[in-house]
Amino acid sequence: MKSLIVYASRKGATRDMAARIARGLGGTGGVDLVDVADEKAAGVDLAGYGLVIIGSPAYAGSWNKAVVAWAAKHEAELLLKKIAFFELGNARESLAVKTALPSLYPGALAVAKLGGEIRWNKLSFLEKIIIKAVTKSSGDSSTVDQKAVEDFIAALVALA
Ligand SMILES: Cc1cc2nc3c(=O)[nH]c(=O)nc-3n(C[C@H](O)[C@H](O)[C@H](O)COP(=O)(O)O)c2cc1C
Repeated sequence: MKSLIVYASRKGATRDMAARIARGLGGTGGVDLVDVADEKAAGVDLAGYGLVIIGSPAYAGSWNKAVVAWAAKHEAELLLKKIAFFELGNARESLAVKTALPSLYPGALAVAKLGGEIRWNKLSFLEKIIIKAVTKSSGDSSTVDQKAVEDFIAALVALA
């Protein structure tokens, strides 16, 4: 059966990660990629999918509201499916999806915090101040853990 990846992204890093995961699943029964901000997200029919992978960046300790709302709306169906979560963010030790989706999280078959990327030119003035205060640095940076990404994709391929 096909897999579905539904994600949110503010600055593009989670979008790029979702595309990378989709490429990784290329050899399986097929994969669809949906940005939750896209109007077609509301009309997605989960019936055709065996595995649903949901991803979001963490901002100020929280998951993206639109992706949380999408998952909540489809909760009854998602509880009956194979589901997996991925989260982007530089605070590798914290996992915002646990509190964002408390009824779905315990049933997830794969969960990973993959690190994050700062795309400096995409930050607002206020975001630049926050990032400079927290990281003591400015400019583009990445904490994406390549091994964690590869392990997560391998786990998904085994589930798909
Ligand atoms: C203002 C701001 C707040 C952030 N807060 C968190 C956070 O609470 N936890 C975390 O792990 N990462 C945090 N990050 C890092 C982002 O999650 C990371 O940059 C991520 O890759 C962004 O994904 P996106 O490009 O898809 O929006 C924050 C970044 C910014 C700019």
